[in-house]
Amino acid sequence: MPWYSEEKIEEVRSRSDIVEVIGSYVRLKHSGSSYAGLCPFHSEKTPSFYVSPARQMYKCFGCGAGGNVITFVMEYENYSFPEAMEYLAGRAGIVLPKQDMTREQRERENLRMLLLEINTKAAKYYYAKLKSPKGKAGYEYLRSRGLTDETITRFGLGYAGQGGDELYQYMKHEGYRDEMLKETGLFKMDERGAYDKFWNRVMFPIMDVNNRVIGFGGRVMGDAKPKYLNSPETKLFDKSRNLFGLNYAKQGKRKYLILCEGYMDVIAMQQAGFTGAVASLGTAFTEQQANLLRRYADEVLLTYDSDEAGVKAALRAIPILRGAGLPARIVRLKPYKDPDEFMKAMGAEEFEKRLDDAQNSFYFELDKIKERFDLSDPEQMTRYYHEVARKLLVFEDKVQRDNYLEAVSARYGIRKEDLRELVIRYGTSLPNGYAAAAEETEKKQGTKKTEEMGIFHTYSLFLSWLAETPELYELVKDKITPDDFEGESFREAASLFYAQLEQGELVPAKIINHFTDVESQNMAARMFQTDFQAKMSPEEREKAFNELVIRIKEHSIDLRMRRLTDMGELQKLVMEKKQWQTPEKLHISLKDGNS
Ligand code: CTP
Ligand code: MN
Repeated sequence: MPWYSEEKIEEVRSRSDIVEVIGSYVRLKHSGSSYAGLCPFHSEKTPSFYVSPARQMYKCFGCGAGGNVITFVMEYENYSFPEAMEYLAGRAGIVLPKQDMTREQRERENLRMLLLEINTKAAKYYYAKLKSPKGKAGYEYLRSRGLTDETITRFGLGYAGQGGDELYQYMKHEGYRDEMLKETGLFKMDERGAYDKFWNRVMFPIMDVNNRVIGFGGRVMGDAKPKYLNSPETKLFDKSRNLFGLNYAKQGKRKYLILCEGYMDVIAMQQAGFTGAVASLGTAFTEQQANLLRRYADEVLLTYDSDEAGVKAALRAIPILRGAGLPARIVRLKPYKDPDEFMKAMGAEEFEKRLDDAQNSFYFELDKIKERFDLSDPEQMTRYYHEVARKLLVFEDKVQRDNYLEAVSARYGIRKEDLRELVIRYGTSLPNGYAAAAEETEKKQGTKKTEEMGIFHTYSLFLSWLAETPELYELVKDKITPDDFEGESFREAASLFYAQLEQGELVPAKIINHFTDVESQNMAARMFQTDFQAKMSPEEREKAFNELVIRIKEHSIDLRMRRLTDMGELQKLVMEKKQWQTPEKLHISLKDGNS
């Protein structure tokens, strides 16, 4: 639930004109009743991003992003909900009262602020220590690794002292209580006392995109193990949603960002002028990180380590990037292990050449597959071709797949027709088939296979239909209630919408306000933006609408059945379901102008 009252949120939303706000980030052009522009959330050359002044919502038909003015700044600026509220309120000249938060919410927000404050102080402490006589070892280590004073300051690098509890003593002196200090992950506490987690290490502060210190990495200055220690996940620090160096690399939308594995790699690259370098912090690269990158770049150049582990990590990251709509190329670093070592040995100019020569990630994948086969053996060669065909199915876009099919057949000397046939074969044998595969079959058999609709899509069609034709509400409100929706967020969105319909005041953009995390907001936005077939005849529309109602009801009954323990109750549900399956009685007629 929001930390501000519903009225306040609505005031901020309604006084922030969406066209104006988005227009300050994206060049928008009038297009019919809406505005169109290039989507800031994925890379594209022709506009598929639309802003509707009437609905006060935006939607991208390319990547599916959508929402209201609040979700837009959350997504674009990577703000939390309260931050987005503050930003928009400031812009509109609205004063936000602090008392609007409940005690619990205020405490949570206070805790976050306090953790940020402690982290910032810790970073300053480590930095000062590095620059003091006691930090000589750390300073010399960093210098020996080729870092300039300017770089050390820019990244706020530091040194955790020798004492074992220096930072702890300092924080106590500053007046912080143990329970708060514990939450930072910077200390180990047990019955015997409290100790610093980091000591005798050089320290790398980890900042979020807005330059706030959310955690630390600490490196030993020799070969001891573990080489790096990192802050644990805390209320501030979510590894899967942050990238080291992004606060410096982010700079409008770049042609490319460079993704690498380590702290030192980012720093070495940025120092050499490759300011778009970021690292995934030693954890497996995540979908959220891919989405974050997509905001700031059109392409990713992968510079993972050249060893086996690095190749493996790259092979895992590529599909994730592809899934986020980000093309990737692989930079060859051999014979060096990582960008830091390469830069030291070869310098920026040679590195630049390697970036230019980076290999298309799909070819990289195919080459790695190829290594598993002995192509002098016809048997293995056949299996390799099959693998290639299967791999081509990662491209859901038919044009793109065809382009790759052509290129691959030329590159690996496979006959195009043979490859195409294999692709179709694999495409159709996959469960549910890729969109791509379905297309191929359709063309071949000349039939249109209706895709199994996900229940979410059904909900969304149903609600969009009601939004478009509110008169239908009276006809369905007794048949489908919000309780019929599966999933808490869907149920909540449906019940808010029903309340609006009940009052005859339809503002789907307002419903989005009720969700404070971006995922739920996107979900809520999409729930009202599914386009149904406008070209249907009245009979088809009526049939389609009734099918939606029945599908929702059946799904709801199925769910209730699964949860039941009482046999008598089960009987009733079976009867009810039967009734819905012979729906003459329940049929909803759209004939009276309700189309
Ligand atoms: N890492 C970690 N914990 C470890 C080892 C590695 O968290 N014990 C993370 C760090 O973020 C590190 C990255 O994984 O930067 C890559 O690890 P590695 O290649 O081993 O280190 P380098 O970055 O090359 O570090 P250095 O150049 O300082 O040796
Ligand atoms: Mn290294």
